[in-house]
Amino acid sequence: MTIVGVLGAGAMGTGIAQVALTHGHHVVLVDNDRVALERATTNMRHAIQREIEKGRLRPEAATYTLETTEHLGALSPCGLVIEAIVERIDAKHLAFRSLSGIVADDCVLATNTSSLSIASIASAASLPERVLGVHFFNPAPVLPLVEIVPWLGTASSVTSETRALVDSWRKTTVVASDTPGFIVNRVARPYYGEALRIADEGIADFATIDAAMRDLGGFRMGPFELMDFIGLDINLAVTRSVFEALGFDPRYRPSLTQQRLVDAGMLGRKTKQGFFDYREGVPKSEPLIDRETGEQVFDRILSMLINEAIDAVHWRVASPADIDLAVTKRVNYPKGLLAWGDERGLDHVLAALVALQEEYGEDRYRPSVLLKRMVRDGGRFT
Ligand code: NAI
Repeated sequence: MTIVGVLGAGAMGTGIAQVALTHGHHVVLVDNDRVALERATTNMRHAIQREIEKGRLRPEAATYTLETTEHLGALSPCGLVIEAIVERIDAKHLAFRSLSGIVADDCVLATNTSSLSIASIASAASLPERVLGVHFFNPAPVLPLVEIVPWLGTASSVTSETRALVDSWRKTTVVASDTPGFIVNRVARPYYGEALRIADEGIADFATIDAAMRDLGGFRMGPFELMDFIGLDINLAVTRSVFEALGFDPRYRPSLTQQRLVDAGMLGRKTKQGFFDYREGVPKSEPLIDRETGEQVFDRILSMLINEAIDAVHWRVASPADIDLAVTKRVNYPKGLLAWGDERGLDHVLAALVALQEEYGEDRYRPSVLLKRMVRDGGRFT
C-alpha cells in the first residue's frame, strides 16, 4: 500500500493524515514545529478513538503506523506527499524544491492550497508533471468533497491515479482546472456577494435575506448566518483572492460592509458578533416576512449563482456533472445549480440577468455567453 506523506501538521495536514491513516496507509507527517506535531498526534489519536467507540472505525485503526518528524528526509519512501503548509507561494516553492530532491521519481507531489496557482507551485519541482492540487475542505475527516486539480502539465495518469486513491478513502472527488477558487470557492461567491449587495441597497435586511434563502430556496443556512459561521475574515479573504486573481471582475467585488465589520473585529460566531449578535441576552433578529421581497431576493441570488455555474462550464473549470456534485456535496445546496437552472428555465435566468444589467448598467450582471447560447439553441444541462 502506498506510503502517504503529509507536510504541515496544522488543521488541514492533521485531518488529511487522519483520513489516510484510517484507510490503512502508513503515514509520515512532517512539520518544522515540534509542538504542532505533538498536538496533531494527540488530536488524531483522540479522534480515531472516538470513531472506534462509535463503531465507525474498526479497532485496528488505532494500531496503524503514524510517523511524525521534523525531518523532510523521512518522506523519501512515500508514493504520495500532500503538502499543507502555510499559504505562501515562497514557502510552497521552497517546499516543492526540497521535496523534489528527496522523493523517488514516481512519487506524486500534491498541494492542498486553496488559492495559489498549481502551475506556479509545480514550477519549483524537478518533475512538474507529477504535481497537482488535492484540495480537501476543513475538517478533512468529515467533509466528503475533494477537488482534484491538475495544472496544464500534469500527466493524465497522475490525475487518474491520485483520484482513484482519494476515492478509495471514501471521498467524493471532482476534477477542477487550475483556476482561481477551483469549483466551490468560485461558483459559491454570489451566494455571499449578491446577498451583501441586496443588504447594502436596503432592499432587505440580513435576517430577511437569510429567511428567503432558507424558506423559499431550501438552503440549509442563509448567506449571513453562513458567513458568521465561516468567519467574516476567512470569507472575505477568499472573495478578495478570487476577485484579484480573476482580474478584478466586478462580479466578485468584495463588500465594504463586510470589510468594515472585519475592520471592527466583528468576525461572526467566533467573536460573538458579526452580521448577527450572539452575545447572551441579545434578542435574535427576526425576518420581516414579506413574500414579494423574499421572492425577489431569492430569484436574484439564485439567478446569479446559476449564471456563475454556467460560466464555470463555459470556461472549462469543470464538467457540468462535477460542478453540480461539488455544490451539493460541499456547500449543501439543495440542488445542483445547473439542474436548478434547467428546472427554473434557462430563459427565466437569462431574463433576470438582462433586467438587472439594464437596470444597474453594470458588467457584474452580464449573462454568461454559454447561457445566451443555451437559450438561443434550446439546450439543457440535464
Ligand atoms: P495551519 O496554519 O493550521 O498549519 C500549517 C502548518 O504548516 C503549521 O503547523 C506550520 O508549523 C507548518 N509549516 C509551515 N511551513 C512549513 C514548512 N516549510 N515545513 C514544514 N511545516 C511547515 O494551516 P492550515 O489551515 O492547515 O492550511 C494549510 C494549507 O491548507 C494552506 O495551503 C491552506 O490554504 C490550505 N487549506 C486550508 C483550509 C482551512 O480551512 N484551514 C481549507 C482548505 C485548504
